[in-house]
This record gives sequence, structure tokens and C-alpha cells, in this order.
Amino acid sequence: MAMDSLEALFEDGLRDMYYAEKKLTRILPKMAKKATSPELADAFTSHAEETEGQVERIEKVFELLDKTARGKRCEALEGLSAEGDHVMEEAEEDGVMDAGLCASAQAVEHYEIARYGALIAWAKQLEMTDAADLLVETLEEEKAADEKLNGIAEKVNPMAERKEAA
Ligand SMILES: [Fe+2]
Repeated sequence: MAMDSLEALFEDGLRDMYYAEKKLTRILPKMAKKATSPELADAFTSHAEETEGQVERIEKVFELLDKTARGKRCEALEGLSAEGDHVMEEAEEDGVMDAGLCASAQAVEHYEIARYGALIAWAKQLEMTDAADLLVETLEEEKAADEKLNGIAEKVNPMAERKEAA
């Protein structure tokens, strides 16, 4: 696709996030299974459900654009996902697993927050108010998920440290 306009850039970014969100609907349940803190597991499970809705919102934005919803391999998410896999494979202590998973999930949230921020700005620039409104709903969910993880990190990080101090 020729990237010759803000519309094209917007559509390209949307495809990137469509791929990312769909992949996250599969990754988050895996992270929920690996988390040892029930609170962290619940946070992953509820965000996985929220993510299903985020996929649907992107589909609605494609509809508003009169385009078929299609994803495009998102290299950033692939990289962040590989880092998460590394934690899941290598963490040898419960606390270390949780602290690592929490940080991996927050890296994903921050990526999403950056991307949705740009998409919303572009949608507004293109006077696509309905699209911007849908994406704002998702952005708010990502910010709330990040905030929740901040709180959980404060509880799981000390658990990761305890073993070493003993
Ligand atoms: Fe998301």
C-alpha cells in the first residue's frame, strides 16, 4: 500500500494494531496461566476479554473507512511478545515470574498507548470523529490496564526480591 497520505498512514497503523490486538487475545490468556499471583492472573484475564472488544472496535473503524479489516504483521508486538515468552520460559521463582510478566505486559500497554495516541490524533486531523471516539474508548482501557498493573507490580516486586534476601 502506498503511504502517500495521512489516510494511508492511518490505515496502515490501524492494520498494525489489528494484528497486535488479535495476537494479544491469544497471549494474555497464556500469561494468565503462568502468573502465580491470582490478582495478576485476573488482570490478564479481564484485559484479554477487554481486548476482544478492542478488536471489534478496530473492525468498526475499518467499516467507517469502508475498508476490509486486515492485519499487518506488527514487528514491535512480535518483539515484545518474544520478551514475554523469555520470561515465561526462564523465570524460576514465582515472584520473579510475576514481576517479569507484569513488566512485559506494561511494555505492551505503553506501546499500545503510543500507537492509539497517534491514531486518535490522525483521526481527528482527518475529521473522522466517530473513529476517534472509538479509539479513545480503547485508549482509556489501555491506560486503566497499565495503572492496574502499576498497583500489582508494587505487590509482586517485593515477592521477587524475598528469595534473594533469604
Ligand atoms: Fe489493547
